[in-house]
Amino acid sequence: MAVRFIGNKQKLLDFILQKVIEETNLTSGLFVDLFTGTTSVAIGAKKLGFDVITNDKLISSFIYSKAGLLVNEEPRFENLLPNIDVNTDSLFEQPYDLVLQYLNNLPEIEGLFYKEYAPGGSAKYLSEPRQYFTDNNAKKIDAIRIKINYWYKKKLIDDIERSLLISSLILATNKVANISGTYGAYLKSWYNRALEKIELERYPLFFSNGNYSVFNEDANNLVKKLKTADIVYIDPPYTKRQYNAYYHIPETLAIGDNPKVWGKTGQRPRQGDETSAYCYKREARNALHELVNNIKARHIFLSYSTDGHISHNEILDILSTKGEPKYWGVDYKRFRSNNPEGGKIEGLKEMLYYVEVID
Ligand SMILES: C[S@@+](CC[C@H](N)C(=O)[O-])C[C@H]1O[C@@H](n2cnc3c(N)ncnc32)[C@H](O)[C@@H]1O
Repeated sequence: MAVRFIGNKQKLLDFILQKVIEETNLTSGLFVDLFTGTTSVAIGAKKLGFDVITNDKLISSFIYSKAGLLVNEEPRFENLLPNIDVNTDSLFEQPYDLVLQYLNNLPEIEGLFYKEYAPGGSAKYLSEPRQYFTDNNAKKIDAIRIKINYWYKKKLIDDIERSLLISSLILATNKVANISGTYGAYLKSWYNRALEKIELERYPLFFSNGNYSVFNEDANNLVKKLKTADIVYIDPPYTKRQYNAYYHIPETLAIGDNPKVWGKTGQRPRQGDETSAYCYKREARNALHELVNNIKARHIFLSYSTDGHISHNEILDILSTKGEPKYWGVDYKRFRSNNPEGGKIEGLKEMLYYVEVID
């Protein structure tokens, strides 16, 4: 999925999956993705033939997981279609396409997104209006999200169908967001794509008949409750950037509420503990240590950056409690296979670690 997301492993996916296969000799069994983000690695594992469990603290990631893992046949929207004005006799279009067309053609509404995240609405009360979206796109987003949440409330769509439509909406929103990568700030001048008209498209689906489960909690808590897996993949944050703050707008779309947003960038108010221990230098190492200690699996893979809070040697120490770790330095431009000479990893950005757990 082409979502702009810090740490999205889409570009490294082939490399990661190749190592998974080479090291474990597995293409089936249970694969757990504890910090699933955009779900790119989890979907890769699903495509290979694994049963998959995903988890993430973000509600938007939970929504993508439901769409990407739990939809395993062409969605029918059976309760909804008789209640909306679409041509259900169409021989060529699937119900999902018809619903997207219907949503794309809704009249605009001046709701939360227009009032808080577009210049026309926010100029009414802010001296520096926010410009995450053009006025028209923001009003369109409002119309679509209000309609999807109304359908859900009226039980015309179920939770999975809502997740699929919201995933389509988050992807479309991401394409026209006037940001340089995260929602931590908007750009002062308009990015070309932000001026294009928002258009919902199908969320990429892959149907399979494995067992899939999705969770939305702190990985360190979840891991204590999970059954034994074949492979656990760990991809925690490695800098101080808290994902809930950087992706507050997808979170609002996923949650479907109308929060009282604050500050220059229109952040959501905090609800409970959304921050991650992995984003604090003083906590990250202990959090990873505790997590690894509680994993019940034969194979553990970990992605981390050489710029991260936890040093390469600290990671090796932690993984050594389970077995003999291996690692590969992965440059975005080229892959350097196996352990770099003398363990030197200068200039490399992404590391992939692996340990086979010794009983
Ligand atoms: C580096 S990103 C993962 C990227 C993902 N592999 C992908 O390809 O998109 C880290 C993810 O960890 C999540 N996260 C941070 N702390 C967490 C925690 N304690 N428990 C569960 N998820 C957490 C963040 O919300 C974020 O989605």
